[in-house]
Amino acid sequence: MVNKITSLAEYLQKYQESVADPEGFWEKIAESHYWHKKWDKVLDWYFEGENAPNVNWFVNAKVNITENIFERNMFMRKDQVALIWEPNDPEEKEIKLTYGELFEKVKQFANALLKIGIKKGDRVAIYLPMVPELTIAMLACARIGAIHSIVFAGFSATALADRVNDATCNIIITSDGAHRGTKTIPLKAVVDEAVAKCPSVDYTVVLNRTGEAVDMVEGRDFWWHDFIKGVGTENKAEVMDAEDILFILYTSGSTGKPKGVVHSTGGYMVYAEYTFKNVFQYSDGDIYWCTADIGWVTGHSYIVYGPLLTGATSVMFEGVPTWPDAGRFWQVVDKYKVNQFYTAPTAIRALLAQGNEWVTKYDLSSLKVLGTVGEPINEEAWRWYHDLVGKGRCPIVDTWWQTETGGIMITPLAGITPTKPSLATLPLPGIQPILVDPEGNELKGNSQEGILCIKYPWPGMLRTTYGDHKRCYQTYFSTYRGLYLTGDGAKRDEEGYYRIIGRIDDVINVSGHRIGTAEVEDAINQHPKVNESAVVGYPHDIKGSGIYAYVICEDLSDTEMETIEEEIRDTVSKFIGPIAKPDKIQIVNGLPKTRSGKIMRRILRKIGEGDATNLGDTSTLLDPGVVEEIISGAKVSVKR
Ligand code: WT7
Repeated sequence: MVNKITSLAEYLQKYQESVADPEGFWEKIAESHYWHKKWDKVLDWYFEGENAPNVNWFVNAKVNITENIFERNMFMRKDQVALIWEPNDPEEKEIKLTYGELFEKVKQFANALLKIGIKKGDRVAIYLPMVPELTIAMLACARIGAIHSIVFAGFSATALADRVNDATCNIIITSDGAHRGTKTIPLKAVVDEAVAKCPSVDYTVVLNRTGEAVDMVEGRDFWWHDFIKGVGTENKAEVMDAEDILFILYTSGSTGKPKGVVHSTGGYMVYAEYTFKNVFQYSDGDIYWCTADIGWVTGHSYIVYGPLLTGATSVMFEGVPTWPDAGRFWQVVDKYKVNQFYTAPTAIRALLAQGNEWVTKYDLSSLKVLGTVGEPINEEAWRWYHDLVGKGRCPIVDTWWQTETGGIMITPLAGITPTKPSLATLPLPGIQPILVDPEGNELKGNSQEGILCIKYPWPGMLRTTYGDHKRCYQTYFSTYRGLYLTGDGAKRDEEGYYRIIGRIDDVINVSGHRIGTAEVEDAINQHPKVNESAVVGYPHDIKGSGIYAYVICEDLSDTEMETIEEEIRDTVSKFIGPIAKPDKIQIVNGLPKTRSGKIMRRILRKIGEGDATNLGDTSTLLDPGVVEEIISGAKVSVKR
């Protein structure tokens, strides 16, 4: 397979090449793609200076990513399965779509979008469960040059409306409802509530998935099946500039509202394909399964774009790991004879807790590679995954990356890079990590711990934050001049291997999802009885981190006191979604603040960790008594 590294020596050599001559390195890789017009220059960039960051890959090249998925693969793979869809309910029949069939559906939906006037550059919101139509809709957008903004279907109406408004989307593609285990979630009802607050939305398209009753507004809402009725499949791809936006994906930061991370077409395409085939060591004919939701970047890059560009067979799963029982993942691996399996540490920990028999009951001999992503994997989970799931035969790729990086950055290459439990190991070719101290001084050599930054552009990196380029600079490039700030702390061991420690900012990694503490606080503060709140993370066995909220309320009556915590959780659910609900809530009378009024989260974190004996310097506190009160204090409500 073209551009696939096959040995450690080759990796080391490629890495050297990629640092000595990054442009030459990526140019060679990009040659294997189909371009309408090649670049005048491979890279044009600065991280510091007027209107920074400025990053242009494949300058003036013309391309369409779907032609690289379909037309480029069609000769060899027309009848090969591109997508295997496994429904929530194991009793329901799966769907397999070949490259040929998927192509027809993408072109037809693309034509339907064009017919109602959606065109290049328009923003299309997609709020769908994990059904094949999600992949079809996103690729149809890419086909016509519309920018997709996929919103995870677990977000609330308010969160959806915020994202739709930020990107001024014209249309929302959704379904009547979603199946998740035994539950059904009424997505169209959520969309209706959101649309009432979204003046830019002219249309919705509604897939019939659960069959529940929905309200349809004449002229605004179309059923998916009516929307494509009679629409042809003849379609010429829109020719895009390499730097035209492919998609926006919102992610939380340490302050304020979520940022729309912008990825452009050419660089993202090259990076998604290159990282997919190398990290997972995908070979022709393999069956690959990533369990993520396409609502997150992992699904964008490693269910859809990376695998389909490579010509892989990619499994897409609608359900949850624990329904009908804790053996579901392994039943599906057995059913399709999955070769590469990619999931999150939180899922591994949850399944580990259910006992080994759920794993051993299935034939997992097809597995060749196991992957993890989203958070540090603890050694116990790593061992269980390696020894029990992989029977000690399958290398684990612990892949570190972010929404902003577009693709995997630091990782072993499966079966090539020697692994160590809990270490993401080495950077991919083309990636130049650097550790710095808090003042920004480079920490050179091995055996170092510091703040992880990247010092040179790579094709898959974000280009801006939608509608606010200054915010992009401010968030990622202003802290240490000339460096991209990841927001993670990391250790480089004696061999030069990286271990990711975790976020150094006010972002909590809950089950591999980024939750900004400020966002949760804003949501909690919407409750009429709440005066102020402070949110921190604390160690959680399954989720990695749980959410701990300290809340100051107005005088509460005894009856109000009984329900306040549940009401706070409901408020968070309403403003963000169930994933952001605090695991622990403690009603307090005061918060530890400095004389300048800043909340000392360090102290709250310590208390949350149950380590209140060692609070460090508290001399700058306005009222040290507050801390005593919190420690000795009130009861903590724990979410069931
Ligand atoms: C943050 C990015 C991109 C994948 C899904 C999450 C943490 C990600 C690892 C890993 C330790 C990891 C980091 C990072 N993270 N992968 N292998 N080991 N930590 O994307 O929501 O943008 O979150 O997830 O803290 O900054 P995201």
